[in-house]
Amino acid sequence: MTELHLWLRHETRTTERRTPVVPSDAARLVDAGVTLTVEDSPQRVHSIEAYEQAGCRVAEAGSWVSAPPETVVVGLKELPDEPAGLTHRHIFFGHAYKRQPGAEPLLRRFLAGGGALLDLEYLVDDEGRRLAAFGYWAGYLGAALAVLHHRGALKVPLHPTSKGELDAELGASAGELSALVIGALGRSGRGARAALGVAGAEPTCWDLAETRDLDRAALLEHELTVNTVLTTRPIPPFLTDKDLDEPGRRLRTLCDVTCDVGSPLNVLPVYDTTTDWTRPVRRLRERPALDLIAIDNLPSLLPLEASADFSAALLPRLLEFGVGGPWGRCLDRFHQACRELGLDEGEFRDV
Ligand SMILES: NC(=O)c1ccc[n+]([C@@H]2O[C@H](COP(=O)([O-])OP(=O)(O)OC[C@H]3O[C@@H](n4cnc5c(N)ncnc54)[C@H](O)[C@@H]3O)[C@@H](O)[C@H]2O)c1
Repeated sequence: MTELHLWLRHETRTTERRTPVVPSDAARLVDAGVTLTVEDSPQRVHSIEAYEQAGCRVAEAGSWVSAPPETVVVGLKELPDEPAGLTHRHIFFGHAYKRQPGAEPLLRRFLAGGGALLDLEYLVDDEGRRLAAFGYWAGYLGAALAVLHHRGALKVPLHPTSKGELDAELGASAGELSALVIGALGRSGRGARAALGVAGAEPTCWDLAETRDLDRAALLEHELTVNTVLTTRPIPPFLTDKDLDEPGRRLRTLCDVTCDVGSPLNVLPVYDTTTDWTRPVRRLRERPALDLIAIDNLPSLLPLEASADFSAALLPRLLEFGVGGPWGRCLDRFHQACRELGLDEGEFRDV
């Protein structure tokens, strides 16, 4: 491998304890000849000493802004608001290609600085399958929180925990439960099914085939629904406000793992803002009650397990970091997103 310098940045979000590269995988990168600088970070689930022992260089939190220009900055969630122009290549989840709020300003920052977004959500193989994703743990957590809330056992505010502790809480809560997982064959769907299994519930599973001719009445018959659908084209909503007002509705707890609120691809246009760790549950209807959980950083609640899985999937891709293949597709997708927003890449360099 030639001269690759990766820079693992500190996460701006204070609740974000995950990392895309764990120390044991950092050691593999260093062994392969990659220079890996790791920013000190008070909340990261692994200590900076563990990265130092793996042979990484250490830097201050936020110092990526003055990293050498060829450095590739690696992170997970949003960048800080400064600097206005982004000069580096950044690997992270930009959430900027589905016209989400804040998408255009972020892309403009890249164009202003001459940098590029290599969005982890679009790191895909030849057939378009995601190569590194947190979906399994998102689904696991989403279903787990929904069950605990439904059974009156959710402890608020939420804190990062371990799978052992979470499973103990799920196992201790008991009771009959009719649950539905939509998107059941995907990563999040599998995670949701696993958590429901630990909670002693056998969910109804819907994927593409079962929603082609959507039976909303059947959906409303379930007490708890977990939506884990990933769609790339607009489809009719699974629920509307009118459905929530159905007097016979049995649905009491809705967990939207997808959290596509604000996007034209949103399949649950029945709420307008996500929930969070401080207030994980929002009441959407009083009679009969319907509560929503829509947390957009679910896997952060299991930082150790989620980081280990993600890092294991990302490592081979970082080892083959280069112009073509998955990273080339990421770059193409960035340029495509800029064009779709009408941003001409020549015009915005001095914004
Ligand atoms: N809330 C969080 O913290 C968090 C974290 C990670 C991922 N996510 C989100 O979770 C969602 C799922 O991610 P994933 O990795 O599981 O994706 P995935 O591609 O592995 O699975 C998505 C599933 O949805 C199914 N699907 C697509 N259209 C459908 C339809 N119309 N009806 C029924 N099923 C349909 C697909 O067939 C697939 O099985 C994504 O929107 C992702 O952004 C959320």
